[in-house]
This record gives sequence, C-alpha cells and structure tokens, in this order.
Amino acid sequence: MELTNKIALITGASSGIGRETAKLFAEQGAKVAMADVDAVGGQTLIAQIKADSGIAEFYQVDVSIETEVQDLVAAVVNQWGGLDILVANAAVLVTGTVEEVTESDWDRVFAVNVKGYAFCAKYAAVQMRKRGGGAIINLASVSSFIAQPAFVPYNTTKGAILQLTRCLAYDLASDNIRVNCVCPGPIDTPAVEYFADFQGLAKKDVLEQLASLTLLKRTGEPREVANAILFLASDKASFITGTPLMVDGGYTAQ
Ligand SMILES: NC(=O)c1ccc[n+]([C@@H]2O[C@H](COP(=O)([O-])OP(=O)(O)OC[C@H]3O[C@@H](n4cnc5c(N)ncnc54)[C@H](O)[C@@H]3O)[C@@H](O)[C@H]2O)c1
Repeated sequence: MELTNKIALITGASSGIGRETAKLFAEQGAKVAMADVDAVGGQTLIAQIKADSGIAEFYQVDVSIETEVQDLVAAVVNQWGGLDILVANAAVLVTGTVEEVTESDWDRVFAVNVKGYAFCAKYAAVQMRKRGGGAIINLASVSSFIAQPAFVPYNTTKGAILQLTRCLAYDLASDNIRVNCVCPGPIDTPAVEYFADFQGLAKKDVLEQLASLTLLKRTGEPREVANAILFLASDKASFITGTPLMVDGGYTAQ
C-alpha cells in the first residue's frame, strides 16, 4: 500500500473527485480526514470506508473561514498526532461573463477557491514541518491554462491556484514539503450537472460535448484523477514539486 501510516486531509471530500480520493487513500492505508460543508455526503462515505476496514473521520467545515480551517487541522492532529498530506480540492463553480458577475460572486469564488486553499496550506504546513516534510496537492484545472466562454470567475481562480502552487512550492521546499497541482479536464462528477444547468442542457449532452474536446474522445472518471493525486502524494513523486499534472485526456495538448 502506498500510504501506510500516512495522515491525509482532503477537502471537498463529500462529492466527486474528493470523495473518490478519500476512498482511494483509505484503500492505500492512510488515515483520512474528510472535510466538507456537506455533512450528509461525508457521513455516507465514512460509513462506506469504515465498512471496508478503512480509517476515516468526517469534519463539517467551510474552508473559506480561516478559523474553521485552523480548528480542522487542530482536530486532525488531536485525533491522529500529525498531518502528512493535504489535498486541497473543495471549490465552487461560479460562472459568467465579467459583466454578469457581481461583487458578491467574486468574493465567494475567491474565498473558497483561493483563500480556502491558502488557509489549508497555512495550517497544514506547520504540522508537516514538525514531521520533517509532507505533500500538498491542490486541485487546479485545465481552466488554469485555457479560457472558456463565460467562465471568468472560476477560471480566474484556477489560474491563481496554479501560481499559488508554485509560490508554496518555493517557500516550503526547505521544509521538505512538496507542493503540486493536478489539473483535470472534463470529469464526470456532480459539478457537471451544475455546468449543464448553466448551459440549459441535459447532462448527457454536456458530457458528449466535453468528451469531443479531448484527444481520447471521452470524459474522465473521478478515480483517474484520484490516481494522479495518489501518485503526487506518494514517495514515488519524491523529486516532484511546483508542477501541474494534466489529467485531461489530451484536452490541452491540441
Ligand atoms: N469535475 C470536473 O470536470 C473538474 C475539472 C477540472 C477541475 N475540477 C476541480 O476538481 C475539484 C473537485 O471537483 P468536483 O467535480 O469533484 O466537484 P464537486 O462539486 O463534485 O465537489 C466539490 C465539493 O466541495 C465541497 N465544497 C464546496 N464549497 C466548500 C467549502 N466552502 N468548504 C468545504 N467544502 C466545500 C462541496 O460540498 C462538494 O462536496 C474542484 O477543485 C474542481 O474545480 C473539476
């Protein structure tokens, strides 16, 4: 198992990619702290992981509130004695053109998608330093690199996460803390339903449309992203820091 005796914190773990990553990490022997605003999805997954003999705890947290993130990391350390891996994944999909987006939309999307990631890294790094190192994996996106129609706020935050990743990698390297980001292309998660509603289309049609944008002509599964996160979290990625890993079926290779 890749993560035996490791303690991992995954945000946005009640749904989609975060959920699948929590399952995979537990399968790989990690103690998994799952954080999300959605307690129902989180508690369902906890029951599933425990039924499969995994070790996991759920914490209801809004990552955009610094004191909640501080308390979260303290609770994880209190539970298991430290922290080795952070997967900063919780995000909101706020879309629109620059003329459509309101000030409160901007505040919300930056609070969760940028400040939330930074708060998690801030408190996780303190604990990782005490253990002689660690790994942080931020969920960025193909949207960190390319533009899409009427996606201004979300894509702006995903560009920021790419740069946040590089800056954290720079500052934390001397503490042996590696920081990378995974950049998914279209992945079949509940977030696609939001995207479909936004476009006024059926989810099936949206998945077909997104699949056509990739070289492999299909959308990805959450497990395929979770596998990339596992690689970056593991010792197999010991000389990798400050880099984006595209998991996009070739979307951005064209
Ligand atoms: N699905 C895709 O096609 C895709 C593509 C590129 C990047 N991504 C990125 O991958 C990550 C996961 O996406 P997903 O598709 O699994 O999304 P999702 O919507 O299925 O899951 C996101 C989770 O984050 C939680 N969350 C939202 N705001 C929160 C907050 N303030 N505090 C704590 N939890 C909060 C939600 O409750 C939800 O459980 C995101 O960072 C997303 O931007 C997804």
